[in-house]
Amino acid sequence: MQRINALARRLPTGVVWAAGAMPFVWLVWAAASNQLGPDPVKAIELWLGLWGLQFLIASLCITPLRRVGLNLIRFRRSLGVLAFLYIALHFLAWVVLDMGLRWDEVLRDLWKRPYIMLGMAGLLAMLPLALTSTDRAIRRLGSARWRALHRLAYVAALAGALHFVVLVKGWPTEPLLYAAAVAGLLLLRLHLPRRLTA
Ligand code: HEM
Repeated sequence: MQRINALARRLPTGVVWAAGAMPFVWLVWAAASNQLGPDPVKAIELWLGLWGLQFLIASLCITPLRRVGLNLIRFRRSLGVLAFLYIALHFLAWVVLDMGLRWDEVLRDLWKRPYIMLGMAGLLAMLPLALTSTDRAIRRLGSARWRALHRLAYVAALAGALHFVVLVKGWPTEPLLYAAAVAGLLLLRLHLPRRLTA
């Protein structure tokens, strides 16, 4: 564990950014070379949503990992911002490519489909986190208020995971596993000693 921590201390955060950009680069390449299957818009939407959820969950794993001695705290912010960027693109893909910017249909879907409402709740919960992710915003808010605000990450992850469960018909395993992971992380968060939950 010590060796991994030492490596993590030396690793520039740019590496996380570069790795985090890979799914997007792959998507652009696959779209440009017509490899997204019969429904490319849907494929784009699903790819971005899934990666957003995975980055969000990865960012929530950092604190419990610290408890078992693995200190990756330097990468938490990058993972959180990457999650926001993928989810924001996921939303844009829906509004622009799927809905064709037809705002009446956007509003109708929002109202009619509970999974869209849950997704929106997740995106809105992430917005203040993204806006306060700079050093300056953190200084201005103070660490206690910043930490309190960042509990919204759990709201976003729960809403996002439920959005996934509700949108898939029946009870398929994948969305349930993501929801279980988020529920487990939330339980851990509630039971971790205060000094470890920064
Ligand atoms: C925290 C926020 C969100 C997360 C974590 C999230 C995640 C996901 C995931 C994992 C999927 C399914 C991917 C797959 O099947 O491989 C999905 C699908 C989808 N999401 Fe989201 N999403 C979020 C927000 C939103 C928002 C704000 C909208 C639009 C308002 C949206 C619209 C959709 C649509 C239309 C689909 C495809 C549904 C279908 O299969 O037809 N999502 N999302």
